[in-house]
Amino acid sequence: MTLKRSVADASVKGKRVLVRVDFNVPLTANGAIADDRRIVEALPTLEHLRTHGARTILLSHLGRPDGVRDMRFSLRPVVHKLSSLLGQPVPLAEDCVGLAPIQAAARLENGGVLMLENLRFHKGEESNDPAFAAQLAQLGELFVEEAFGTVHRAHASTVGVARRLPAYAGFLVEKELRELGPLVTDPERPYVALLGGAKVADKLPLLGSFVGRADAVLIGGALAFPFLVRRGASLGATRVEAELEGPLDAFLAAAEKAGTRVELPVDLLYERPGTDEVGAAPANALPDGAVARDIGPRTRDRFYAVLQESRTVFWNGPLGLAEDPRFAAGTREVLAGLATLSGHHVGAGGDSARVAQALGVSQAFQYFSTGGGAALEFVQGAELPGLAVLPDA
Ligand code: 3PG
Repeated sequence: MTLKRSVADASVKGKRVLVRVDFNVPLTANGAIADDRRIVEALPTLEHLRTHGARTILLSHLGRPDGVRDMRFSLRPVVHKLSSLLGQPVPLAEDCVGLAPIQAAARLENGGVLMLENLRFHKGEESNDPAFAAQLAQLGELFVEEAFGTVHRAHASTVGVARRLPAYAGFLVEKELRELGPLVTDPERPYVALLGGAKVADKLPLLGSFVGRADAVLIGGALAFPFLVRRGASLGATRVEAELEGPLDAFLAAAEKAGTRVELPVDLLYERPGTDEVGAAPANALPDGAVARDIGPRTRDRFYAVLQESRTVFWNGPLGLAEDPRFAAGTREVLAGLATLSGHHVGAGGDSARVAQALGVSQAFQYFSTGGGAALEFVQGAELPGLAVLPDA
C-alpha cells in the first residue's frame, strides 16, 4: 500500500492550514451528537497542528443539504463538542466562502483552530466547481486530508483544494491506510468477508470484489434474501429485492470458478407480523406470512466454523434486525465468537460500529474504520480520488 506524504513532515508554524475533516456525525432528533468518534479520531492531527503553531482551518460537510443553506445541517453542535475536546474555543465562521471565513481566518493566531460552516451549503462542493475550490484554497497555504470517510468523493474540498495547495495526509488517513491496506494488498489467509445489511444492489460491487480475493464470503441479513430466493427458497411474506437474477448468478458462478466459498443462511429467525409468533425455520421453507428477521442458530454455527479457520476477517452490516432484541442474536453470537479468535479483524461503517457497540461485541475487532462508503470502496480495491490526489511519501 502506497504511503502518502504525511502532515508530520509539513512545516506548519504560523501557516494557515486547511484541514478537510469528516465531521459528518450522526445527530439525535434534537440535534445532539449521537456518536463523536469521527471528531475524536481527528484530534491527534489537530493537536499536532496546534502544538506546532499552525493556524488551523477546518472544512467539513454534515448530512446532505444539497447546496442549500439549511441550518438543520449546521456544524454548530460539532464546534461545541470540538471546543470541549480540545479545551479551547473553536469559532464557527458562518460560511465557508466569502468574507466571513477570510475575516475569521485573519483573526487566527498560531495554535488557533477555526471551523467553517457546512461545505454542502454550496452546490460547488459536490460538483467540484473550480471557482468554489479556488475560493476555499485561497484561505490556506497548506492542505491536510483527514476526512477518510469522504475520500471516495471527488468534491471541491477533497480533490479541488488538494490540487491547488501543497497537500498532506493527516494521521487518521494514515492509520486507515495502515489498517485497511493489508486487506487489499496482502491479507493473511484464510481471508473471510462477513457481510450483512440490506440493499443487495448497492453491495454487489463489494461482493464481486471478494471473488478470488477472499477465501470465503459469509452472507447474512437482508443481503442474503435474494440469493435464497434465487436458489428456490420460499421466504413467506419477506420483502426481497427483485430483478437481480443476472448479477446474483454471475457472482455465484464467478465465486465457484475462483474457488471462493459462499455461505448463505441455512436457517432463519422469523416473525409473523400482527401476532406474537417468533420462530426459527429452514431457510428454504419459511411458513406462509412469515417475515425473515435474522440468521438462525445453525447458520451461526456454520459461520463460526468458517471464521475459526480464518486469519483475516472483514465485517460490514448486521446479520439480522439487530436493533430488535428478538433478532439481535445472529449478529451478537457470531461477533462474540469472532472475539474469541485470533487474527486481523477489521470492521467498517458507522452503523455497523454502533451495532457492535450496542451488542457489547466491539472487542471482536482490532480496528473499526471511520469510513462507511469510503471504507467499502477502499476494501474493494478501488482508486479513491481523495487519496489519489495526495502526493506519495
Ligand atoms: C459518510 O458518512 O459516509 C461520509 O461522510 C460521506 O457522506 P456522503 O455519503 O453524504 O457523501
